[in-house]
Amino acid sequence: MEQIPYAWLLIGAGAFWLFRIYMQGGKYRKNTTALGKVVIVTGANTGIGKETVRELAKRGATVYMACRDMKKCEEARQELIKDTCNKNIHGVKLDLASIKSIEEFADNFKKLESRLDILINNAGIMACPYMVTEDGFEMQIGVNHLGHFHLTNLLLDLLKKSAPSRIVVLSSLAHAMGPFKKNDFLSEHSYNPSKVYSHSKIANILFAHELAKRLQGTKVTVNSLHPGVVESELMRYNSIINKPILSSIANGLKWPFFKTTPNGAQTTIYAALDPDLEFVSGTYFSDCQPKKTTSVARDDELAKWLWNESDRLIKLRLAQLDLK
Ligand SMILES: NC(=O)c1ccc[n+]([C@@H]2O[C@H](COP(=O)([O-])OP(=O)(O)OC[C@H]3O[C@@H](n4cnc5c(N)ncnc54)[C@H](OP(=O)(O)O)[C@@H]3O)[C@@H](O)[C@H]2O)c1
Repeated sequence: MEQIPYAWLLIGAGAFWLFRIYMQGGKYRKNTTALGKVVIVTGANTGIGKETVRELAKRGATVYMACRDMKKCEEARQELIKDTCNKNIHGVKLDLASIKSIEEFADNFKKLESRLDILINNAGIMACPYMVTEDGFEMQIGVNHLGHFHLTNLLLDLLKKSAPSRIVVLSSLAHAMGPFKKNDFLSEHSYNPSKVYSHSKIANILFAHELAKRLQGTKVTVNSLHPGVVESELMRYNSIINKPILSSIANGLKWPFFKTTPNGAQTTIYAALDPDLEFVSGTYFSDCQPKKTTSVARDDELAKWLWNESDRLIKLRLAQLDLK
C-alpha cells in the first residue's frame, strides 16, 4: 500500500519529463552541409544566435558573429571554434542601436568578403524600460526592426550577387499579443514594454512580407520565424528574473516549458539551410514548419507603410549624420 504514492510520484515525474521533451519542439534533422556558405548572424554572442553559429559552423559555414560587445563576442567565438573545430568563425562589431555602427559594419564586411549567402537577423531586446538608440529611436523598435531594416538594405547588393541566398528574420509568437502602433510608431506618446516588444515583432514579419515581394525574381528569399519559448538572456529586463531567490523559483517553474538554446536555434537552421525552401519566401515558420501569422502581420498595405516609414526615418537620420 505504501508503494502507491511512490508509483504516482514516478508516473508524475515521467509525465513531467515527457512534457519537457514535447515542449522542445520541431528539429531540423537533415544533414544539409553549409560548406562554402558565408553567413552573418546578428546578436551571436549568446542565446539562440550563439547556438545558430555553433550549428552552422559544425556544418562547415564561414560565420560572422555581428555583436555589440566585442569582449563577449570573442569569448563566445573562442568557445565555438574549440567546439566545432571550424576556424572560420569571425567577430565583427555591430551595434544595431547605432546607424553609424551599422554603416561601419557593412563597409567592414564588404572589405572582408565578396559574397553573402545567408543573413540571419537574430539580435533582439525585449521589454526593456523606455530607452532610445543613439539615433533617438525607441530602443525595441530601433534594434529589433529599424537596425535590421537598415543592415539588410546595406547588404542586399551582396545577397543578390550571391544568389540563391537567404535572409532569415527572427520574430516571435509575441507578435500575436500586441497592437501594431502605426499612430505612435516610435512610442513617443505612450510606452508599455511588452506591448512595444510585440509591436517590434509584428514589424519583423511585415518587413519580411514586404521584402519578399521586392525580391521576387532575384533568387534571394526572406522568411521570418518564431524560435519557440527559449531559455536565453532575453528576459534580462524582467524584474522577477533578476531577483536571486525569485529567479531560482522562476527557473524551476519554467523548466518544463522552455526550449534549450540549441533547440531554440532549430527553426533558424531549417529556414537557413533546408533545400526544400529554396523558392519559399515571405513565409513565417515555427517548429521547423510554416505557420499562420495574425492578419495584421500579413497586411499588405501595412507592410508597405512600414517599409516607407522605416526608409523615411533612416534617410532623415542619415542626412542629419551627413552620411548620405
Ligand atoms: N528566447 C525566446 O524565448 C524568444 C522567443 C521568441 C523570439 N525570440 C527572438 O529570438 C532572438 C534572439 O533572442 P535570444 O532569446 O537569443 O535573446 P538573448 O539571449 O538576449 O540574445 C540577444 C542577442 O541580441 C544582442 N543584441 C541586443 N541588442 C543589440 C544591439 N543593439 N546590437 C547588436 N546586438 C544586440 C545581444 O547582445 P548582448 O549580449 O551584448 O546584449 C545578444 O547577443 C530575438 O530576436 C528574440 O526576439 C526569442
